[in-house]
Amino acid sequence: MRHSQPGRYPAHVITISSVMVLVLVLFVGVSGSSSWAHPHINLTTTSDLRFGGSKKYEGSSEFVHLRYHMGPILTTSITLHPIWYGRWCKPQKRIIRGFLNSISAVDSKHPSVSQWWSTVQLYTDQTGDNISSNVQLGVEKNDRFYSHGKSLTRLSIQHVIKSAVTSSTKPLPVNPKSGLYLLLTSDDVHVEDFCGQVCGFHYFTFPSIVGYTLPYAWVGNSGKRCPGLCAYPFAVPGFIPGLKPVMAPNGDVGVDGMISVIAHEIAELATNPLVNAWYAGEDPSFPTEIADLCEGIYGTGGGGSYTGQMMETEDGATFNMHGSFGRKFLVQWVWNPVLNYCYGPNAMD
Ligand SMILES: *[C@@H]1O[C@H](CO)[C@@H](O)[C@H](O)[C@H]1NC(C)=O
Repeated sequence: MRHSQPGRYPAHVITISSVMVLVLVLFVGVSGSSSWAHPHINLTTTSDLRFGGSKKYEGSSEFVHLRYHMGPILTTSITLHPIWYGRWCKPQKRIIRGFLNSISAVDSKHPSVSQWWSTVQLYTDQTGDNISSNVQLGVEKNDRFYSHGKSLTRLSIQHVIKSAVTSSTKPLPVNPKSGLYLLLTSDDVHVEDFCGQVCGFHYFTFPSIVGYTLPYAWVGNSGKRCPGLCAYPFAVPGFIPGLKPVMAPNGDVGVDGMISVIAHEIAELATNPLVNAWYAGEDPSFPTEIADLCEGIYGTGGGGSYTGQMMETEDGATFNMHGSFGRKFLVQWVWNPVLNYCYGPNAMD
């Protein structure tokens, strides 16, 4: 299967200021069979609004033909295996673990991360089984010394995962049926297309390289490289005057920005782990998956030019859902297959 051919389609449009009549068009570039791609920014005029890609996804199913392609989905309890590549400090790991542990948590306030996951649970396979409600953090792996260097390609990523599951010391368990491998790269690591086209992507490993078919995702910390693209709205593109970033709920722009990308990838891995299950679009090489459809939407009214209604902490940080142990996160919505629109736990209607 192809995994390095770029493609592109318009995703969402951000209005900067009604006075300036400037509109930011963020194009999502799909790079590879199943990538979460991200913002290419062009300046254009409001007249282009009506051509904005995600406008058509927000409120109605009219243009969305999300279909099930008969492949497997993750219906038994899901185990997440983070691979910490490069330099990660403890507070950063705690934020990400805090999110992963919130997916199936029962102790969170409404609106919660586990309520966000309940939309993902609405997807079923051909036997009628739903996506599992049980998502657990499993064994982790540290790759502190950049085993494959500070610049990774799509191919070398598979070698990083191979190292993690075949390591002579504490290898990660091989779990092709319900394990998801999350390669998380620190802010000094470059990955092919990172910041240009993508903030993260998911795919599966090739038996010829890794020895197994393992669904995995890569998400990078964009904090030092392109937070305005990959950690929006905690950072904004530098060349837009007057557009202000919002405050990150866990105090780390790069890592708080990763949370929504990680959530995006896990939702898609669960519903389309081998890229032959739930997606829209005619070309399986460029699938539009359940989180792609709602990229940039964090609340009611979101889409097109607007993130939607979010919430604020007493300290003025922006979030849209609660996790366990009182943590707060900003996570994009996903497509609800029953309602046929993007939905999240903080929906007002
Ligand atoms: C399973 O999916 C069906 C179809 O979307 C839905 O009606 C049902 O509520 C789901 N069950 C759970 C436990 O989410």
